[in-house]
Amino acid sequence: MKLAILSRAPQAYSTQRLRAAALQRGHEVKVLDTLRFAIDLSGTEPDLQYRGRRLSDYDAVLPRIGNSVTYFGTAVVRQFEQMDVYTPNTANGITNSRDKLRANQILSRHNIGMPATAFVRNRADVRPAIARVGGAPVVIKLLEGTQGIGVILAPEVKVAEAIIETLHSTKQNVLIQRFVAESRGRDIRALVVGDRVVAAMRRSANGDEFRSNVHRGGSVEAVELDPAFEQAAVRSAQIMGLRVAGVDMLEGDEGPLVMEVNSSPGLEGLEAATKLDVAGAIVDFIANQVAFPEIDVRQRLSVSTGYGVAELVVHGAADLVGRTLGESGLSERDITVLTLHRGTSVIPNPRSSVVLEGEDRLLCFGRLEEMRSMIPERRRRRAKVRKLPKQPIPEG
Ligand SMILES: Nc1ncnc2c1ncn2[C@@H]1O[C@H](COP(=O)(O)OP(=O)(O)O)[C@@H](O)[C@H]1O
Ligand SMILES: [Mg+2]
Repeated sequence: MKLAILSRAPQAYSTQRLRAAALQRGHEVKVLDTLRFAIDLSGTEPDLQYRGRRLSDYDAVLPRIGNSVTYFGTAVVRQFEQMDVYTPNTANGITNSRDKLRANQILSRHNIGMPATAFVRNRADVRPAIARVGGAPVVIKLLEGTQGIGVILAPEVKVAEAIIETLHSTKQNVLIQRFVAESRGRDIRALVVGDRVVAAMRRSANGDEFRSNVHRGGSVEAVELDPAFEQAAVRSAQIMGLRVAGVDMLEGDEGPLVMEVNSSPGLEGLEAATKLDVAGAIVDFIANQVAFPEIDVRQRLSVSTGYGVAELVVHGAADLVGRTLGESGLSERDITVLTLHRGTSVIPNPRSSVVLEGEDRLLCFGRLEEMRSMIPERRRRRAKVRKLPKQPIPEG
């Protein structure tokens, strides 16, 4: 394949390793400076210029978009998407992961364990928010920090209030988050490629520091991941729309607590700790996916008037429980079931002999009018304060 690595740091370890891994496998590869593209919308088709010349054809692009160039970088990635060039990480996925609040919001409905988090603006709401996440000591985070910068541990409520007030006065938005003390200055970084974790390490903070980032002096060691951690990492990356991602998790008493999902994870610490060829795994995955450009299914399928995709919940639809998909009457109503979601597992193209269960969710394509009557009532809010379950429970 012909691969473009988008990076502003051609000499960086990760870029070099990815480039070398691609060359070693016989691929053609170029490292292109993200900021030297020009998005061209003047012609009949979406196009890109690079350093003033029309870009040649690429099969795939691997975006390594730094935090300082998110807007322009994601615009370039989005343009590649419009040109049907495969990218493991979409512009949407990258944007979602950049902002810690946005990422938390997106993950929060999918039964992924996360540290209790609050986001407020008014001064009067600060104290109750701190109390809701468990009181002091409490973690305060800038929405777009990286490398541990912008993550503060406030020992007392009064100090926390003062810090938050100061940050608000300089127009900075902050998250208020439970301090997961039981993780003891350690966390797990899992590198997800496609549907699996290819390498994982534990990072431990240095001395009395609570942040385990390598840039904050943290040390790293390879770990064998618990299935619960592996599952949380893979699902978080999938939900965010990232096929290559570094997922950070604290080790909570009840299991993994996902803190963030990084769309341009560094490879140096991870490859050093695990001795694994992570760059090679990424390149191999991309080469396998090249034939399948990312498409926005919902948008493409709703082009035919009156048809679209919808999720039907079996217990919401009358009399489906206990019947097979064949007996469900869905196909007679011109409804095609694309996937069946049961708990955390997914059955693609389910056969007509599959027996439906109460909590099953069916992703369907069909006439919107036919499906409307089967869409369950809006989800009710769950009862307040729940302990985070060890295993993800099916969505209801
Ligand atoms: N709620 C928390 N409880 C305990 N430690 C935390 C918490 N949030 C962050 N940390 C520590 O701080 C580090 C940096 O936090 P993170 O949210 O990943 O920000 P960054 O994007 O700067 O890496 C984490 O790797 C972890 O060691
Ligand atoms: Mg982090």
